Amino acid sequence: MTEMIDRRFFLASLGGAAAAGLAGPAAAVFTPTQFLMWHRPGCSCCLEWARQMGVALGRKLPIVEAPDLPAIKKARGVPNDLHSCHTAIIAGYVVEGHVPPADIKRLMKSGSRTVRGLAVAGMPHGSPGMETHDDHRQPYKVIAFTANGRRSVYASYGGAG
Ligand code: CU
Ligand code: CU
Repeated sequence: MTEMIDRRFFLASLGGAAAAGLAGPAAAVFTPTQFLMWHRPGCSCCLEWARQMGVALGRKLPIVEAPDLPAIKKARGVPNDLHSCHTAIIAGYVVEGHVPPADIKRLMKSGSRTVRGLAVAGMPHGSPGMETHDDHRQPYKVIAFTANGRRSVYASYGGAG
């Protein structure tokens, strides 16, 4: 029963994911086949992340330039303090920022209907798409968030190395 309620809430709250940047919070449905990324025009680390994500998925991730990225994040329920430079929908899940593709694949495999999405806040050096020439790495965490505001640490990546 709880799972059913969770699922309905999840479906209702995914917002306008289906309408590629056009929809508001009220629109659309959960679409497990949906894959795309919105990003700020001119930001290139997002493109590198999308490339790596595409390799991991075995399909190209469509990219939509979004001048008003904050509105897109808000409509998908990305918590304010977890914002990064791009927002994606991967198999219906919301993916914020430089989340390692392996973590997204793990979420897809789990088929969770309580987790709405994964986020890596900011732009940590050494995360996928944020590689540096000197191999500098910052520690960062992948946070799983639900439609009702619950969070958990989905993965942790260390700093040294
Ligand atoms: Cu970035
Ligand atoms: Cu970027």
